Amino acid sequence: MQLLSDRILNMATSATLAMAAKARELRGEGKDIIGLSLGEPDFNTPDFIKDAAIQAINENYNSYSPVDGYADLKQAIITKFKRDNNLTYTPTQIVVSTGAKQCLANIAGVMVNKGDEVIMPCPYWVSYADIVKLNDGIPVEVKTTIATDFKMTPEQLEAAITPKTKMIWFSSPCNPSGSIYSKEELRGLADVLVKHPNIYVVSDEIYEHINYVGKHASMAEFEDMYNNTITVNGVSKAFAMTGWRIGYIGAPEKIARACNKMQGQITSGANCIAQRATITALNEPPSKVQYMIDEFKVRRDLILSLLNDIEGFKTNVPEGAFYVFPNISFFFGKTLKGKKINNASDFSMFLLEEALVATVDGESFGNPDCIRISYAASQEQIIEAIKRIKEAVS
Ligand SMILES: Cc1ncc(COP(=O)(O)O)c(C=O)c1O
Repeated sequence: MQLLSDRILNMATSATLAMAAKARELRGEGKDIIGLSLGEPDFNTPDFIKDAAIQAINENYNSYSPVDGYADLKQAIITKFKRDNNLTYTPTQIVVSTGAKQCLANIAGVMVNKGDEVIMPCPYWVSYADIVKLNDGIPVEVKTTIATDFKMTPEQLEAAITPKTKMIWFSSPCNPSGSIYSKEELRGLADVLVKHPNIYVVSDEIYEHINYVGKHASMAEFEDMYNNTITVNGVSKAFAMTGWRIGYIGAPEKIARACNKMQGQITSGANCIAQRATITALNEPPSKVQYMIDEFKVRRDLILSLLNDIEGFKTNVPEGAFYVFPNISFFFGKTLKGKKINNASDFSMFLLEEALVATVDGESFGNPDCIRISYAASQEQIIEAIKRIKEAVS
């Protein structure tokens, strides 16, 4: 009998984590790799949050928490949703999980049946498709390009809907393209969706605060979408808390209860110290972490100007998150330093081996013409990395 399940054998390894592991391996061999592959802020968690965690340890928060999160954390999330997003939730609509990733795994686990289709505008975040497939769902990719700033149009959405469509998953600001749907653009999608009341939206807003253009808009803000939207958020990105592992949802009560049930059998409540620290993080106004967003914007402008100086890199102007997603198909079919570049994976590997810069190929984000470069790195590292890339490809 086969040792491992078909389920795990059919699952792709997270491309971002795989690239980070490869970069670590090369570093171990003494190579000076600049890592621009991972999606995590290079800032420390702010002191006011660390202090809250230390206090929680000293106050002996060491027992299992309620599965769906401490009541006062859920209250802080409710207040945050109201303050930042004008969304009204009650405690039974909130579930706190071990990162937004677990929120998404819960949602798929409780909502996707075999053969259900889940529409995802591409490029999408690496894990969406595999989480859906793990639950026997079918990811339905809607291709977008730089021409529409990598955003799905209402016409494309309409064309992708079939009687089997169960959900739509998307992130705004988007990982990997940095695109942000304006309120009007969301309304355009909502106008299509209101004609299909059995379709649910997963609105992944984890990059909400890393926004360089203005007010964040949430799908659930529309009254006619509220009951069909699950809003996913978390503290990893805006608060530089990736390793603390706290994410949360605001959802229709039936779905939240089902996620609670699922989590109760799989992981129980999220880490108790991190939950206590998250109360402090969320209770402060977002302006408290604006210094990080300001710095990301400077880096965004820097990396765009450097990349646009290299022949063969075509970019959109990312309005949020901390990635650029250049189209590098110009290099396909060419030979660089004796290496034939057939696709984005070859190109990303070429950059790792020849420029010693770690990026991620776009294939796993659903766009094989692009690579993702994270600019959550110092300005010096960005300048050096792009200089090396320019030298390697010219
Ligand atoms: C779009 C998107 N959603 C969800 C996640 C998961 O975040 P968390 O660290 O909260 O699990 C990430 C992390 O990279 C992401 O980029």
